[in-house]
Amino acid sequence: QIKDKAVVIVFGASGDLAKKSTFPALYTLWEEGLLPEKTRIIGYARSKLSKEKLQDQLFWKIRDDAKEGHHQEDAAKMREFEGLVKYVQGSYDKDESFQELEREIEAIETEVFSGQKSNRISYLALPPSSFSQVSHMIKKHNYSPETINRLVIEKPFGKDTEDCKRMMSSIAKDWKEEEIYRIDHYLGEEMVRAIYHLRFANSFIEPLLNKDHVESVSIVMKETFGAEGRGGYFDEFGMIRDVGQNHLLQSIAIMMMEAPASLEDDSLRSNKLDLLKGIPPVDSADLVLGQYADGPNGKAYVDDETVPDDSRTATFAQWAMKVDNERWRGVPVLVKCGKGKSWKSLDEGLMTMTFHLRAPRNNVFNVNEHSNSLVIRMNPEPAVFFKANLLKPATRGTEAIEQEIKWTVPGRKVAGDKLAYEANIFKGDQSSFVREDEVIAAWEIFTPLVIFPKKDRSRPADRLFWYTGY
Ligand code: BG6
Repeated sequence: QIKDKAVVIVFGASGDLAKKSTFPALYTLWEEGLLPEKTRIIGYARSKLSKEKLQDQLFWKIRDDAKEGHHQEDAAKMREFEGLVKYVQGSYDKDESFQELEREIEAIETEVFSGQKSNRISYLALPPSSFSQVSHMIKKHNYSPETINRLVIEKPFGKDTEDCKRMMSSIAKDWKEEEIYRIDHYLGEEMVRAIYHLRFANSFIEPLLNKDHVESVSIVMKETFGAEGRGGYFDEFGMIRDVGQNHLLQSIAIMMMEAPASLEDDSLRSNKLDLLKGIPPVDSADLVLGQYADGPNGKAYVDDETVPDDSRTATFAQWAMKVDNERWRGVPVLVKCGKGKSWKSLDEGLMTMTFHLRAPRNNVFNVNEHSNSLVIRMNPEPAVFFKANLLKPATRGTEAIEQEIKWTVPGRKVAGDKLAYEANIFKGDQSSFVREDEVIAAWEIFTPLVIFPKKDRSRPADRLFWYTGY
């Protein structure tokens, strides 16, 4: 556990991820007193950043969230936080740049830590293609053997099984598994974290979660925005790689895995791994892909200036999976995810996981299959609810009506909160970070869909359609 001194180095400090997620999360942790007492932050990037631009990077999201009423914008606090941050300009492939960075870290150690070596957290807010090289440079120049060093990287971890294995083994030459924190920010979502309590702190839900009671599982993720200038990244990855292999699969694993023996890092992660290993690769016949077209509410995906005009990247994907284990055999898991806002039907941001229950054994009220379900909703308003058939109020007869029995989680949806689970990086708790074998198992499920031999004429991209809603 890192208690007192830490230098957090944010690589890619001038980028979008740092601006929208990493800095707001660090600010939130600092504000809540969850950073080690004497933390200092170094933003590192290639571009020159003026004082104003750095300020914008640090505080843009806080100001934006404040406008929405999620936060108070406190100028004095923001100035104090800014005083903890230093910016260093450097390249990602030159030894001299990392040596210069080391001098900056040592200067902090002299000034703030009375010459003692500090613990070091290297946060790579960078494209995955640079993880191997940058993590190697950090190990070579900025690793301190006397103290704790941690490397933080964010999904997507590679583009398919082989690419991921290459990346992982290259990083593993320099860093031990217990030093690597792989972020899937869905694991920081309040509603996803609440699943553990829902399932394992109660005795009435667990008995339902199996093939005897669940007829099918469906997951829907709809986003009201499209490429929005992120085409440079998104177009290379597409919907399956961007959210399917990680956010959605992690949520499924937590909801469908066996009960862990304890809350220890490895107990949870091993059970997620077992679940993932039970999912056979998705068959391309069970996949539908789409790309949003233009419509009354906005432009098409290919009209975004960051997207190539002839792009065939899927912004929508729908597939069926199965979990081939004793608990779930025969229960289909149907996943649907898409982004875009051009048509009315894409107007709603939604993320739900629904367990559709079988009809009651003695169906005396003759209710429909599926009319009972357990719904976990992450978006828009985090909630857990049961859809139940209840006696119609004030009826003289026996008529049933469908009602919701609901628990709403007052989850705040600001970036700083979603990533505030990063406090665990300082505590050394890896339970909410993804282990290497989990990432690989997750890729195995999708690799046949995202890479396909040229000779295969029925490859998924050929089945891409242009959609106007779903
Ligand atoms: C990111 C994806 O990891 O997750 C985005 O790259 C996606 O494309 C986002 O929009 C969804 O997360 P959230 O927290 O905004 O629902």
